[in-house]
Amino acid sequence: MKSIVVVSSRTGNTLKVAGAVAYALDESMEAVKVEENPDVSEYDLVVVGTWIDKGGADKKAAEFIKKLRDKRVAVFATLGAYADSEHAGKCIENIISLFDKSCDVVGSFICQGAVSQKMIDMMTKMFPAGHPHAMNEARIKRLADGKSHPDEKDLQNAREYFSALKASVLAQ
Ligand SMILES: Cc1cc2nc3c(=O)[nH]c(=O)nc-3n(C[C@H](O)[C@H](O)[C@H](O)COP(=O)(O)O)c2cc1C
Repeated sequence: MKSIVVVSSRTGNTLKVAGAVAYALDESMEAVKVEENPDVSEYDLVVVGTWIDKGGADKKAAEFIKKLRDKRVAVFATLGAYADSEHAGKCIENIISLFDKSCDVVGSFICQGAVSQKMIDMMTKMFPAGHPHAMNEARIKRLADGKSHPDEKDLQNAREYFSALKASVLAQ
C-alpha cells in the first residue's frame, strides 16, 4: 500500500505528529508539507494533518482536502483544546465534512498542541473580562497543560493509531 502524509503546521506541533504518523505507515517515509502541493494520484492512502484554526482545518489544509477525489483518506490534527473535549470532536467532524463524497475517510486522530505565547497574549488583549472568550481559570489551566504537547505519549498514540489503521486497511 502506497501512502503519503501531507501536513499543514504553523508552529511545528502538527509537523511533530506528522513525523510519528509517517513513521507508523512506513519507517522510511517523511511527511510532505502542504505548501509543496504534492501530486497524490499514485497513492492508495492520503493522510492529511492540520492545525485547528477557528474550529476546523486551516486554510491551506482545507484547500488541499477539497481538491481530493476518489481517495482513501485519513486525518489528524492538533488543537489548543483538550483532545477528549466536545470541541475536538466537532473539529474532526468539520475537517471530514470538507472531503468530496467520492473520498473514503477511514480514520482520524487528534491531540492537544501548545498554543503559541503570541496567540495567548493576543487573546488576552482581545477578549476583556466578561467576554465569553476572556481568560478564566479553566482556560489558563488548559493553555498551561497544553504547553508540553504534543508530548511523547501523544506521538506514541499517533504511531499506534496509524499502525493499526494501516493493518486494517491492508486486511480489506
Ligand atoms: C489563529 C489561531 C486559531 C486557532 N483556533 C483554534 C480553535 O478554534 N480551537 C482550538 O482548540 N485551538 C485553536 N488554535 C490552537 C492551535 O490549533 C494549536 O496551538 C495547534 O497545535 C497549532 O499547531 P501547529 O503548531 O502545527 O501550527 C488556534 C491557533 C491560532 C494561532
